[in-house]
Amino acid sequence: MKVLIIGSGGREHAIADAFARSSECTKIYLSPGNAGIAKEYECVPLADKMQILEFVQKHNIAMVFIGPEQPISEGLSDFLREHKVRVLAPSRAAAQLETSKAFAKRIMQNYGVPTARYRFIQSAAELDFCMQEFSFPVVLKADGLAAGKGVIICEDRSSAVKAAEALLSQKAGQSGILVEEYLMGWETSLFAFCDGKDFVTSLFSQDHKQLYDNDRGPNTGGMGAICPISEAETYRQVIEDEILSPVLKAMQNEGIPYEGILYLGLMITREGPKVIEFNCRFGDPEAQVVLPLLQTDFVLLCNAVIDHKIQGLKLSWKNAHAIAVVAAAPGYPGPYTKGIPIKIPRIKSKVMYAGVSEDASGLKSSGGRVLALVNVAESAQEAREAVYRDMDAIDFQGKVYRKDIGLRENQVF
Ligand code: AMP
Ligand code: GLY
Repeated sequence: MKVLIIGSGGREHAIADAFARSSECTKIYLSPGNAGIAKEYECVPLADKMQILEFVQKHNIAMVFIGPEQPISEGLSDFLREHKVRVLAPSRAAAQLETSKAFAKRIMQNYGVPTARYRFIQSAAELDFCMQEFSFPVVLKADGLAAGKGVIICEDRSSAVKAAEALLSQKAGQSGILVEEYLMGWETSLFAFCDGKDFVTSLFSQDHKQLYDNDRGPNTGGMGAICPISEAETYRQVIEDEILSPVLKAMQNEGIPYEGILYLGLMITREGPKVIEFNCRFGDPEAQVVLPLLQTDFVLLCNAVIDHKIQGLKLSWKNAHAIAVVAAAPGYPGPYTKGIPIKIPRIKSKVMYAGVSEDASGLKSSGGRVLALVNVAESAQEAREAVYRDMDAIDFQGKVYRKDIGLRENQVF
């Protein structure tokens, strides 16, 4: 069968690799993909929904997998389903779990799902009322999609007022902002494959969001990830029973069953796991470390989601450790340098391409997060040593990467 993956980053490269490992997949297309991915898979730049539909019909595509949230939020999954295309992505309405933080919070509150206490406000003036309820630091978040730029942690009242004004003036903050209690603990990510009624979960993974070692510096789209996170296993049952089950039930009750991948961003606190955020898709870079460990056939899993046959499905995973280390362009996550030549010698780690383009002289950087190296080994230490050896060996002037991916200590409370 032929599949089409929508998206252009390292996550989509990892999704393509997962399909490539399936014996059922004969051809993999990406739109738009990128110049690095194009060395392995055919990349086709399809400009809009109509072009995607025409391509699917012309090439007899058996499944469309939508990688990022943006096209889902614009209704691509609904449009394709209306035209009888098999799609792996939730509907636009169900994706509100990611696209509207107010919606996600309302669902969680109504169904008793553990998350940070919050207030929803529409002007900075309302801040004073809710400041009495929360102690500092306090977390402010734009309601809508903000590409990772919608969260500000404030240490005092004056910075909270400034942050509220800044968020309210952004597009993502126009529908309002969330004022939230600051959660103490450590973070882990979990993917649930949901068919509307039932779900099956992945291994736990862990993103490293800050730019610098020891979790310092500005937030980024993610500078590296590891999988599995054994300390999180203690919490799997309660996460499934107290978060996933009620949320899927809630979405059914709302008349918008969740059919697709649900990403849980979790804080493991002394009181147990709490939801930081939901995403309506795989995380990036987490997908780059979770998917390489999946042993279950990826087409079979995707079909089970689409055909509502998740019940009873057991996933099998490699008994190994995966690490992804992102190489970013100098300046990222601020304005960054573009056009830096990239040369990859023979290395053991897999290169997952994100922000790259190509001209006559070869591959060049074109984005903030340029590529990631992924290594899978028997032990976490082996994987880490191998990935860093390879990172040193690649030729990419000024590459910015963290040296401490996978060195965090996660406490079981
Ligand atoms: P989000 O965009 O919601 O994933 O938030 C980005 C990052 O901000 C998260 O990965 C956390 O590290 C941090 N964060 C968000 N909400 C909270 C919270 N309530 N308490 C502590 N940290 C938070
Ligand atoms: N790694 C975080 C995200 O994909 O949103």
